[in-house]
Amino acid sequence: MRVYLNGEYLEQARAAVSVDDRGFLFGDGVYEVTRARNGRLFEAGRHLRRLERGLEALGIAPPPGFEPGGGALLEIADRLLRDNGLMNGDALVYLEITRGVAERTHHFPPAGTPPTVFLRTNRLAAPDDVRERGATVITTPDLRWERCDLKTVQLLPNVLAKQQAVTAGAFEAVFVRAGIVTEGASTNVFVVIDGAIHTHPATQRILPGITREIVLELAAERGLRVVEQAVPLEELRGASELFLTSTSTEVMPVARLDGGAVGSGRPGPVARQLHAALRERLERDTTRAPAV
Ligand SMILES: Cc1ncc(COP(=O)(O)O)c(C=O)c1O
Repeated sequence: MRVYLNGEYLEQARAAVSVDDRGFLFGDGVYEVTRARNGRLFEAGRHLRRLERGLEALGIAPPPGFEPGGGALLEIADRLLRDNGLMNGDALVYLEITRGVAERTHHFPPAGTPPTVFLRTNRLAAPDDVRERGATVITTPDLRWERCDLKTVQLLPNVLAKQQAVTAGAFEAVFVRAGIVTEGASTNVFVVIDGAIHTHPATQRILPGITREIVLELAAERGLRVVEQAVPLEELRGASELFLTSTSTEVMPVARLDGGAVGSGRPGPVARQLHAALRERLERDTTRAPAV
């Protein structure tokens, strides 16, 4: 696989960043994961806007020409998808921008320090087998900071929570803060209670997932009742459905929570309907018009 690093396209094995990179030393950077299908990016504009917000919030100035609103990042992603033989089927584009390489000080390096820009692509094997039977999840305390809305590479609480899930044989760990369900370690969480879909509002407590946003739109288009309101853990246990969303997992129904069944213990109708709607949108937006 070829990757892009600071102006160069090179084999992944040859791509290396400095030990003084602030991403390495401090987790001082942001990232994005965008879906591609048949070589086309899905909802690239929304991902780039989130990236732009993150860079602004962290005070990282993108290198000249690499502003998320410009075309350079999209051109690099296109070229990598092409060079890596990913013009058919499902793929992911990973993009990371750190504050760059500088002498180790906690405060920002001198103005003009070039940020590190890294992109790579890989084939996506969607977890359809898990989706078919419904995922298993565990709950765990949300130990993260107060700006979970920023997609920074500082993911240690998420890493620890995900490992806890893996150790328990679960697909995902769902964070609970002060008795309230926030989101998953790498997913947003939706809960169906009395026929209405509940999800945590897009505050600083959660990452404003792009899939979350699209699923909310798809639900509204279908006349489903949606409430952007946080759900206490005890209500989660009585929910008829629970599902997760993310770029790589799409809509993932949950069958078991902390060892007990969710609803019927099978993927529920709301999750199934929204997953079908998301796939339809994905296919519509990434299908090339036939050559004339
Ligand atoms: C903490 C967290 N929440 C939610 C999501 C889902 O976001 P998206 O739908 O943009 O992939 C992710 C994705 O990685 C995440 O890390």
